[in-house]
Amino acid sequence: MPADLAAAAFEFEPSPAPLDVAARGERLLDPGFGRVFTDHMASIRWSEDKGWHKARIVARAPLTMDPSTAVLHYAQEIFEGLKAYRLADDRFALFRADANARRFQNSARRLAMPELPEDLFVESCRALVRADRDWMPEIEGGSIYLRPFMIASEVFLGVKPSAEYHYMVIASAVGAYWKGPPRAVSLWISREHSRAAAGGTGAAKCGGNYAASLLAQAEAIKRGCDQVVFLDAVERRWVEELGGMNIFFVFADGTLRTPPLTGTILPGITRDSLITLARDMGLTVTEAPYAADQWRADAESGKLVESFACGTAAVVTPIGQVTDGDATFTIGGGGPGQLTMSLRSALEAIQRGTAKGPEGWVQPI
Ligand code: COI
Repeated sequence: MPADLAAAAFEFEPSPAPLDVAARGERLLDPGFGRVFTDHMASIRWSEDKGWHKARIVARAPLTMDPSTAVLHYAQEIFEGLKAYRLADDRFALFRADANARRFQNSARRLAMPELPEDLFVESCRALVRADRDWMPEIEGGSIYLRPFMIASEVFLGVKPSAEYHYMVIASAVGAYWKGPPRAVSLWISREHSRAAAGGTGAAKCGGNYAASLLAQAEAIKRGCDQVVFLDAVERRWVEELGGMNIFFVFADGTLRTPPLTGTILPGITRDSLITLARDMGLTVTEAPYAADQWRADAESGKLVESFACGTAAVVTPIGQVTDGDATFTIGGGGPGQLTMSLRSALEAIQRGTAKGPEGWVQPI
């Protein structure tokens, strides 16, 4: 099959044993995040001689892998996260899937993997949502979270880019990322560990970045906080991002700031969407470094009034408290900030089709 395998070439092999309606309904009542999976998955293979081939929607099932498969040893793996929503008019839509497709290509280049054509990426997501549309949770904030990913599937222990890859998309019915009622989260600043260094893979969405974040994330939890904050790897001074989310700062003068995309930060699509929405609201957004010490001083002086985390899974999550060493400082009143929540509402209204956003963001299926 040539590398430009047509998107229309997805074969559908329905699951012989989809979950029965009653059991599915039960699971959709309160799915949380990342534990309730749909009946099918998308699958495409890549090999040096055939390029992209064998595009299918098949029953979701465990993978059988030779223990020498390259990904298990050298972590040549990338992934994405995007959501499908039910619109106000009952159609289903993806949100900015083309942007995820391009970021997936950038991640593939950085990890020496083949680039999946944008139309194949988007169609794999569309075809999977079409197959599993009955899994959309009918709850406040419910959506189908899509997890496209690609692994090095060659059976070989030499250290080199794999000669074969397996691209898949799985789907998960989700509610809110954080357990319990909506609340402001707490952060812990890691002064010891960094997430990424210049020239590394910080801007790629690869599993290795998340694996490297886990020790510091576990430390954050141990100290009673929800998420870790990583600082830059050189000066250990500038705020970069959280374990799996970007971050914004809101000042009393109504301006916003977010760390710049220097190559060590994930270029979040939610981050990009919020910059656009805030600017459309007439707000000033600066992409500039912000020191952790300054953050604390500004929170204490009242110059900084809100901070929030953002990402596909987290959407827009207010930050209430930050612990740095033995000191804890509170952001604003410690609860959800006003601008944070209005940006969140503006974004969600566009994603669910109750407000009009920039051209092309909402992509009906
Ligand atoms: C996402 O927001 O889609 C991510 O991949 C981050 C992870 C914390 C779930």
